[in-house]
Amino acid sequence: METNHKSILITGGAGFIGSHLTRLFVNKYPGTRIVNLDKLTYAGNLENLKDIEKKENYIFVKGDICDAELLKSLFEQYSFDGVLHCAAESHVDRSITDPLAFVNTNVLGTVTLLNAARAGWNGNFEGKLFYHISTDEVYGSLGATGFFTEKTPYDPRSPYSSSKASSDHFVRAYHHTYGIPVIVSNCSNNYGPYHFPEKLIPLCINNIIHSKPLPIYGKGENVRDWLFVEDHVKAIDLIFHKGRIGETYNIGGHNEWKNIDIIRELCKQMDKKLGRPDGTSEKLITFVKDRAGHDLRYAIDPTKLTEELGWKPSLQFEEGLARTIDWYLANEKWLNDVTSGEYMKYYEEMYSGRG
Ligand code: NAD
Ligand code: DAU
Repeated sequence: METNHKSILITGGAGFIGSHLTRLFVNKYPGTRIVNLDKLTYAGNLENLKDIEKKENYIFVKGDICDAELLKSLFEQYSFDGVLHCAAESHVDRSITDPLAFVNTNVLGTVTLLNAARAGWNGNFEGKLFYHISTDEVYGSLGATGFFTEKTPYDPRSPYSSSKASSDHFVRAYHHTYGIPVIVSNCSNNYGPYHFPEKLIPLCINNIIHSKPLPIYGKGENVRDWLFVEDHVKAIDLIFHKGRIGETYNIGGHNEWKNIDIIRELCKQMDKKLGRPDGTSEKLITFVKDRAGHDLRYAIDPTKLTEELGWKPSLQFEEGLARTIDWYLANEKWLNDVTSGEYMKYYEEMYSGRG
């Protein structure tokens, strides 16, 4: 697939999904300038992009999507014809502790970025695209059956999902009101390399390595629909180039797991890889106080994406999980660096009261 875009702004490119997206675009489209704007919060890490940082078509800018002056000057300097908006506060537990941080980046930041695109493009929308990366959590929580489609009414239930829902609405409003060409995609839970170990899978990988308790919220009955991060960014690439303007696409691979089952599977695989007797890691499983307002189940119906654009995930879950574990075991320095200092304080505050 070729790209007609000459200059693309990726926001949040130093984070988990953003770094995979940036790597894919920098390597696949060497004739296109890729500018990565990232504030480098606790979740942003330039180590995630070491392998591409010297590429000629790649530029990193440290900055905040809430900084209107900076965005104006970047649009002037680089004449972006595409925006891939990934920057966000992304962790549900942190949104419960500090909702305003999520309003600031996810809502105000997105609107500030939309304003910059609107001013920068100044009514000339030919060949332009503002692509907003969002989440399935905006649809709320499912019972035991059913799936989220693009037509499912929004019903966000955490400060995080409310802020993402709000940003989705603003993106669509800027399309309807000002004519900005936009596409929104809503994806299920991602996993893979460079995932920050505040999230379930990398947190448990890190704790298994160090033989620490594996904190499972409630009874571990909540269900998530897991997609390997490289499959997510391939879907974004496809939708960015072939998707229809003004449309929404759900991304997911029909891979639902109860939290307790996925952690048992992780324990099994890690015991083998670490040469520990079967059952060693499972003994670390500890049921702790539930997340407030914990959504029961997410599950994506990706029919539109599959039928319209021919996308399907390339990896089976067992292989994706094995690749993920292997990456963390081979990158212990990365893991140690991101779990030292501030992380210890976060972990203490988030988990000490859970019993
Ligand atoms: P992440 O937390 O790993 O990374 C977020 C990145 O954004 C970091 O590099 C951070 O430094 C940067 N950032 C935060 N605030 C910023 C600001 N004000 N200005 C500039 N940069 C800022 O997040 P992620 O898991 O990679 O998620 C990326 C996007 O994908 C988010 O919009 C999230 O809602 C969405 N999403 C995530 C998942 C998932 O499972 N992780 C699933 C579906 C959708
Ligand atoms: O569905 C997409 C969303 O997936 C993204 O929009 C979010 O950015 C991303 O963080 C993720 O949200 P979740 O809340 O589903 O992910 P998390 O890894 O935090 O939790 C996954 C499940 O595991 C959830 O049911 C809560 C549970 N959990 C989580 C942690 C951190 C535990 O049981 N123990 C834990 O310590």
